[in-house]
Amino acid sequence: MRPAAPRRSASARRARRLTVAVALVAALSLAGCGGADASEADLDRLEQAFASADVALGTEVFDDSCSVCHGSDGSGGVGAALGGVDERLSVRNHLSVVWTGRGSMPPFGGILTDAEIAAVVAYQRSTFGTE
Ligand code: HEC
Repeated sequence: MRPAAPRRSASARRARRLTVAVALVAALSLAGCGGADASEADLDRLEQAFASADVALGTEVFDDSCSVCHGSDGSGGVGAALGGVDERLSVRNHLSVVWTGRGSMPPFGGILTDAEIAAVVAYQRSTFGTE
């Protein structure tokens, strides 16, 4: 049997829980307005990653993180249909939508790595686009 936790550590646990709650509320309210915009520096970095994007990795990222809303064939559902996405969005705007989120789409900046974002954008453009 472990001894009962002393009072001090119980209040420390409460304080930690409060910190986590505050962080969650902050994250959710950010997500609610589409997340923070991608900065020019973020987009420059992502474009550089796009230049050597790994489409095989993009396939995995799409299946894991995007297909639930966009459909595994890109035909849409909760998310937009992706056919011809390369004609609607420049590479930079495409990277920006994934980084920042849009409407009810959550932001992926800081959740996926730059390489994963670049890869999934390359996958979407080559699989659902007209390029
Ligand atoms: C929770 C559901 C959801 C998930 C998960 C999701 N999306 Fe979306 N996505 C949406 C919705 C909804 C829209 C339409 C947003 C709007 O314009 O209001 C959208 C729009 C887009 C667009 C713009 C399409 C266009 O024609 O303008 C792209 C590109 C996109 N998503 C890529 C992705 C990628 C890449 C992933 C995975 C990393 C992803 N989405 C994950 C819901 C989702």
